[in-house]
Amino acid sequence: MKIEISEAFPEHFRPAYPEEFELFSHFETTAGIPSPLFAITTWKENGLPNACFHAWSCFHGDRTAFFAVMGNLYQHTHTYANILREKCFGLNFLPIGCYDRLVETIRRNGMDEDEFQAGGFALQEARTIHAPLIAEAFLSLECTLTEAKDLTGAGQTAMVTGRVRHAWVEEAYAQGYDRRYGKDGFMLLVPAPQDLLSGAPGQSGIATVHIERLD
Ligand SMILES: Cc1cc2nc3c(=O)[nH]c(=O)nc-3n(C[C@H](O)[C@H](O)[C@H](O)COP(=O)(O)O)c2cc1C
Repeated sequence: MKIEISEAFPEHFRPAYPEEFELFSHFETTAGIPSPLFAITTWKENGLPNACFHAWSCFHGDRTAFFAVMGNLYQHTHTYANILREKCFGLNFLPIGCYDRLVETIRRNGMDEDEFQAGGFALQEARTIHAPLIAEAFLSLECTLTEAKDLTGAGQTAMVTGRVRHAWVEEAYAQGYDRRYGKDGFMLLVPAPQDLLSGAPGQSGIATVHIERLD
């Protein structure tokens, strides 16, 4: 038997915190689809480096170009303003061991905060764009803005697409699967799966990748 969830908010869904369903669609917690977690890095208008912990993205292209599609960037963030102003941004992939330090960049998020210092990260200058990169990242991508679009028309989130212009990969991650897809590799967000029967809220999970087979 399959459970059906429609566009109408399911009355038995209880939020994990009061504003949860003002920020997120109930389909988000119905589906609980994991996505990679990484940090977007930009310069603030005052010249301080900014880091933004981010999920809800995908990465793809064709023979001619490769793109990062950040499907759900809140328009109130410094990052959104910085990207619109600078027309570029860095993406930095760090292992799960850096989770708390990345959250620290959210806790200390003021205009006058050096968010690299807040997270204890070293700064690396990008090669092709005007953006700071996190030196500790095992993978960093330099992107130029190609499109920023209000996702739903509600003025809340934006879908931001960037064209990847340059990549940095830590040498220890250059071969094989062990480093990129384990505890040292990509970190993913599992967005708080709802108990679809009782409506009880779930907690978000932070995951790593376990490769089951090769293709
Ligand atoms: C695990 C996790 C994932 C997040 N993913 C996103 C996201 O995908 N989009 C977004 O707009 N904010 C996301 N956030 C919230 C931002 O990190 C937060 O609003 C941050 O303070 C914005 O930074 P800024 O104002 O310096 O740009 C996430 C937070 C956490 C803890």
